[in-house]
Amino acid sequence: MIKLIKSSFHREADTKRALADFVLSHDVFSMTEQCAAFETAFAAKQERAHAVFVANGSAANLLLIQALLNQGTLRRGDRVGFSALTWPTNVMPLIQLGLEPVALDCELDTLNVSPETFEAHISQCKALWLTNVLGFCDDLVALRSRCEERGVLLLEDNCEALGSRMHGTLLGNFGAASTFSFFVGHHLSTIEGGMVCTDDEELYHQLLVARAHGWDRSLPATARAALRAEAGVDDFYAKYTFYDLAYNVRPTEINGFIGNQQIRYWDEIVQRRASNFALFHAAMTGNDDFHQLDVSHMDCVSNFAMPVVCRTPQLAEKYRAAFEAADVEIRPVIAGDVTQQPFYRKYVKDDAGRPHARLVHTAGFYFGNNPELTDDELATLRELLRG
Ligand SMILES: Cc1ncc(COP(=O)(O)O)c(C=O)c1O
Repeated sequence: MIKLIKSSFHREADTKRALADFVLSHDVFSMTEQCAAFETAFAAKQERAHAVFVANGSAANLLLIQALLNQGTLRRGDRVGFSALTWPTNVMPLIQLGLEPVALDCELDTLNVSPETFEAHISQCKALWLTNVLGFCDDLVALRSRCEERGVLLLEDNCEALGSRMHGTLLGNFGAASTFSFFVGHHLSTIEGGMVCTDDEELYHQLLVARAHGWDRSLPATARAALRAEAGVDDFYAKYTFYDLAYNVRPTEINGFIGNQQIRYWDEIVQRRASNFALFHAAMTGNDDFHQLDVSHMDCVSNFAMPVVCRTPQLAEKYRAAFEAADVEIRPVIAGDVTQQPFYRKYVKDDAGRPHARLVHTAGFYFGNNPELTDDELATLRELLRG
């Protein structure tokens, strides 16, 4: 079978051996040096000033929204535009934390929100919370400049797009902050894991406080001293002083250690996935059964799964059957139009249709793109895409 996820780690045998040695030779596994080293390495590779490592990508999203509320950049009741084609734990934090989600349809050729679609909603939105779906983006340069002009806070859920680039800029670096997932099968795996990146030092401090109980222990010394002075606490009580609303979404040293092993393969992983994508894209191009993807504005598309959107649900049935007959594991394209999911309908009154996101759901599917695909498997997949 051509599985969606072929392994837990890139270069799995080496990573498992190193992990076994690490566990046998260490006693402390709660968050400390390995996690800190992974944050430093990740911030450097992602070309961002700050990176905050957390338990998973969903926690990264929740933490980011909480930190923005704690900072006062967002307020309860603010309207936040988000990509209707997304993963549920992208929009769930908006609902959980009292913001008002405004669902935005995607384009069929980029699977992302376009500047034109956002323009129709820009006057109501305090923030735009984009998902860079499956390594793709729409015109992020135009979206960023429109957000700047109108004072809209731009945020990116980059859990599916590590390593993709547009106009020389890594996806995840267009907004004020971005989130990442290191769940198995994503570009980098730490089994479970996530990251929030930002260049904003004040937001960085809010993230550190909200990541662990609301205390100050992860803060740099000067920021910690300032908080303690303001609250009037001495060193004894500072240990159990809690400054703001928080969670405990810390990762462990085991996740940190794996992250430090895997990040060495960042370029290899991204390039391999990008070259697989180029082969799939070439095979699909010209097959009129599919909506064609437009990636002409992107320098690099690196995804962990390859979406196929057929022109009709009937064609989708035919292609899904052909992929399954060839023993290829397939899934729906993330949550489709997330506003049609039961949880969303329970909490948000919104009957407007998002026809593109809906079509992606009813006429789409994806299969895995991972660095371990063999030449034979690549050939099978390309043949299937040619129709
Ligand atoms: C766009 C997006 N956001 C958030 C997440 C959540 O990440 P995690 O599974 O690490 O919680 C995912 C998971 O795949 C995702 O695709």
